[in-house]
Amino acid sequence: MHPNLFRQKCLLTTISLAISYSILYYLILYSNINKKTFPVSKPLPYRGCIVSLIRSDKLVSLNRLLNMLNSLTLYFRNIHQYPIFLFHEPTLENDTKRQILYCASKLNIRFYEIHFNVTIPSNRSGYASMCQFWSYDIWFKYNILQSQCDYVMRFDDDSYLSNLTANDLFEEFHRNQLDYAYRVIYRDTNGIEFIRDNLRSFLATNKTRSGCIELMCSFLNGPYGYDGLAVYNNFFVIRLDLMYEHKVIERYLKQLIALDAFYRYRVGDANIQTICLLLIDKPVKISSMNFPYAHNVHGASDIGPTFGYFDTVALMWYFTMKTPNVTCKSVFIASRYTLTRRNV
Ligand SMILES: *[C@@H]1O[C@H](CO)[C@@H](O)[C@H](O)[C@H]1NC(C)=O
Ligand SMILES: *[C@@H]1O[C@H](CO)[C@@H](O)[C@H](O)[C@H]1NC(C)=O
Ligand SMILES: *[C@@H]1O[C@H](CO)[C@@H](O)[C@H](O)[C@H]1NC(C)=O
Ligand SMILES: *[C@@H]1O[C@H](CO)[C@@H](O)[C@H](O)[C@H]1NC(C)=O
Ligand SMILES: *[C@@H]1O[C@H](CO)[C@@H](O)[C@H](O)[C@H]1NC(C)=O
Ligand SMILES: *[C@@H]1O[C@H](CO)[C@@H](O)[C@H](O)[C@H]1NC(C)=O
Repeated sequence: MHPNLFRQKCLLTTISLAISYSILYYLILYSNINKKTFPVSKPLPYRGCIVSLIRSDKLVSLNRLLNMLNSLTLYFRNIHQYPIFLFHEPTLENDTKRQILYCASKLNIRFYEIHFNVTIPSNRSGYASMCQFWSYDIWFKYNILQSQCDYVMRFDDDSYLSNLTANDLFEEFHRNQLDYAYRVIYRDTNGIEFIRDNLRSFLATNKTRSGCIELMCSFLNGPYGYDGLAVYNNFFVIRLDLMYEHKVIERYLKQLIALDAFYRYRVGDANIQTICLLLIDKPVKISSMNFPYAHNVHGASDIGPTFGYFDTVALMWYFTMKTPNVTCKSVFIASRYTLTRRNV
């Protein structure tokens, strides 16, 4: 090859290479700019999280938990879009975690270890810790949800879906721009004397306050005082920021913690969460949500948290839940007269 021709070819190659590289460079730059303006990895305008506080026992509680999780796999619309946070004590063994992941393999499960601080030990301190967790700890002691969730749904290990939901429950919550959704309202009078007196001293004495959950109202102080009005909260959905937008909630909860109220008195989380909602003196969008839900073999009614057992069905349920690994790839659904098994 002639040296001149060679030089020319070299020059041409260099120029075309330079052009290709600059095109490539702009393409990359452009796609990066594009990525920044139109994030493609976030398809939903909200982040929904399902949260459960689970027990460490490897038989009945594990069976129920897997029954619940598998019911979500079968019946919760768009479940693949929502992470499930399982809060647990250090006593939950790695083997149990592995089994949960194996049996509920289609779900996006995240474990999160917590430590209860039992201030007054008693034979009901486990229950008291649970009530405090759902009233206070989950919002103000741990901050894992704040960075990852816009909406938080509680789903206990002893609850499950008994049929396909008509809607994606998070989507329904978002579409209606709700602050809080629940299934049933009732009255819970456990620890009511303490709760009522405490509210009277917490609120200004010269102003009578009341609040409503949809059509059901209760005084919070004044001559009548709080009457136990409660959202039955084994299931709820909340717009998480609601807990932080109204400082009165944190103040109310912190003074309960300072009194060791959950360990000292029979204070239940349903009452406390309801009072938090009632203390907000701005309009809050609260609505009931209907979907096929069951709670153990009781408390499943759509009109009230009834505790009527279905006799033989209840017995069959308890017997079934004592069988190791029985719900690994199944959901057991109790209705009034039958116990049905569905495979996942
Ligand atoms: C359980 O797993 C964690 C990490 O996943 C590890 O740090 C821990 O040592 C394990 N515990 C036991 C008892 O093997
Ligand atoms: C446990 O509770 C006590 C009393 O409320 C408190 O003084 C202590 O700091 C708490 N410990 C932890 C680890 O939260
Ligand atoms: C728990 O302790 C209380 C007294 O503090 C007692 O009345 C009750 O029977 C105990 N319950 C159980 C299940 O041991
Ligand atoms: C479950 O829901 C479907 C409609 O989505 C309905 O046809 C079916 O009867 C329901 N099953 C039960 C057991 O309620
Ligand atoms: C209630 O008392 C506070 C001071 O303690 C006062 O600022 C407020 O105006 C009073 N409200 C009414 C309705 O009297
Ligand atoms: C539990 O059951 C599943 C299937 O239902 C099976 O694959 C698994 O090996 C079982 N695990 C144990 C520990 O028996």
